[in-house]
Amino acid sequence: MTSDPINRLLGVLISGRGTNLQALIDAIAGGRLHASIAVVISNREGAPGLERARAAGIEAITLSHRAYSTRDDYDRALVKELQARDVGLVCLAGFMRLVGAPLIEAFPNRILNIHPSLLPAFPGLDAQKQAVEHGVRVSGVTVHLVTAELDGGPIIVQRAVPVMTGDNAETLAARILDEEHRAYPEAVRMILEGGWRVEGRRFVAARYPTSAST
Ligand code: GRF
Repeated sequence: MTSDPINRLLGVLISGRGTNLQALIDAIAGGRLHASIAVVISNREGAPGLERARAAGIEAITLSHRAYSTRDDYDRALVKELQARDVGLVCLAGFMRLVGAPLIEAFPNRILNIHPSLLPAFPGLDAQKQAVEHGVRVSGVTVHLVTAELDGGPIIVQRAVPVMTGDNAETLAARILDEEHRAYPEAVRMILEGGWRVEGRRFVAARYPTSAST
């Protein structure tokens, strides 16, 4: 089924420093991504990404998961905040929470996540460390639709990043992060352009690859 038109109001969920959020802010400001960010929500108080949002004039709020007794209750609270701002697309950007049914059902095929490996290799935490320890020669970044399966949804964009001799988790993470900042705006743009569909577990784009520049 071809995707319906998506409204271009983004909700970005973070837990930490927010460099991918910054990449989205910069792509929008630079006219490379035609969207706007309606709200940034962090589950952690004091996340540096909140300040990045405010500096760009974007509403930024903390919604602590600790205030909710179940994950579903927390997800329902997220849905309420996102829907109150008419968000059409949810971007997870270093959001360190498993996303559950209430959020996925409220935004079916409308939640994106960025992960620092070439999925399905190295899902979960510390993907860069997993890659170094496994000894792969190439890792990378994946932007995918979020489903109930952790880091397992249809893949929108992937970029390969070489693993160098002598790399440790930190040096590899830094190299991958540069690529993340190009890949995320590109994936959001593809989603907003429409004309794609999900077939089984595959994301089928109208045209891919798109231009390498973002
Ligand atoms: C990124 O490596 C992203 O792929 C992963 O969490 C990290 C978030 O970094 N999901 P930042 O907060 O966007 O700087």
